[in-house]
Amino acid sequence: MTSIKLKPLLAAAAGNQPERHPAWFLRQAGRYLPEYREIRSHLSFLELCRDPAKSAEVTLQPLRRFDLDAAIIFSDILIPPAHMGQTLTFDKGHGPVLRDPVRSSQDLKSLSLPDWEKDAPYTGEAISHTISGLNSHQTMIGFAGAPFTVASYMIEGSGTKTFSEVKKLIFTAPDVFRGLLEMLTETTVDYLKMQVKAGAEALMLFDTWAGNLTSGDYHQHVLPHMKTLTSQLRSLKVPITYFPGQGGENLHEIGGIDLDVVAIDWRVPMERAVSTLRSCKSPFRCVQGNLDPMVLSWGNQELVREKVREVLTSAKNAPAHIFNVGHGVLPTTRPESIQTALEELRSFRP
Ligand code: CP3
Repeated sequence: MTSIKLKPLLAAAAGNQPERHPAWFLRQAGRYLPEYREIRSHLSFLELCRDPAKSAEVTLQPLRRFDLDAAIIFSDILIPPAHMGQTLTFDKGHGPVLRDPVRSSQDLKSLSLPDWEKDAPYTGEAISHTISGLNSHQTMIGFAGAPFTVASYMIEGSGTKTFSEVKKLIFTAPDVFRGLLEMLTETTVDYLKMQVKAGAEALMLFDTWAGNLTSGDYHQHVLPHMKTLTSQLRSLKVPITYFPGQGGENLHEIGGIDLDVVAIDWRVPMERAVSTLRSCKSPFRCVQGNLDPMVLSWGNQELVREKVREVLTSAKNAPAHIFNVGHGVLPTTRPESIQTALEELRSFRP
């Protein structure tokens, strides 16, 4: 029998430690790259997301500069709400805004489930464009926001520090909140199916705001939907990575979800994350992360090397590890720091 050699990221996601330590960076495409800013000077962020050839080009930009193991399709977690009946804008200096926030059962009734291939095929088309630009060791990652984080934006109408409207809905109208998470779960499955059909070999779910609920509320109001989502995605036969952002208090809960890779927020020491996940008998096979992305903006090159070594040392007891940042790369990132981080990773001997 011939054994097929998996790409490094896929091997790690399956729980093996491949010869080449896989690495990529969350939000690796974006404003810290002059070639991205050049393309963005001609069109808005949403126009870019909706142009398959240009979004493929931007997806590949970081791979032309750096020796990375994955491309993540250039898009945004707020694309689904923009096709469910809300109006999405990115106002300069204000981040994303969704008009007509969902705060009542009437608001929920006004939403609809998109037919992705018919209404918004562009993310799939961008993936098909991108894969022809990858080399044989690079993995194509598709993604979506996890239902809770996308729902947070849909309820608040923008980013928030307090989650006041989200918690108001959970505490005063839990049926409406549940209905919204059910809709998002259903459409996220369809959206990711389209991405896998187009060529995505791995999927990532971003739950940036997951840490803003108590463990009890996460357990009651979010976990059931995450279990439904991941069990439905299993039929796609690609590894699933979940990023629960904003701290690690919910890792005990997350240990109950059927995931291949858990992406660890930079605030959580990797060794603690691994021992927590093991203690709840999580089926996880691999962890991803978790360099503090600010190091790539403000650290000198020696500090970058030191912090990369710290991450690698702290991940040494993980079943397998994908090197990454512990949250998105920032516009202030120095491109040479990404290069230095990768060099340190490649020369590291524990
Ligand atoms: O990793 C990649 O390179 C893929 C692209 C990607 C983007 N957004 C591009 C983007 C991914 C995976 C996302 C996910 C996303 N979007 C998340 C989850 C991950 C995280 O960072 O927490 C969230 C919360 C969003 C919502 C969102 N979109 C925010 C808060 C912003 C920033 C607004 C701002 O002006 O800083 C965006 C816009 C956005 N998404 C940009 C990029 C490159 C900046 C767009 C620009 O002005 O060019």
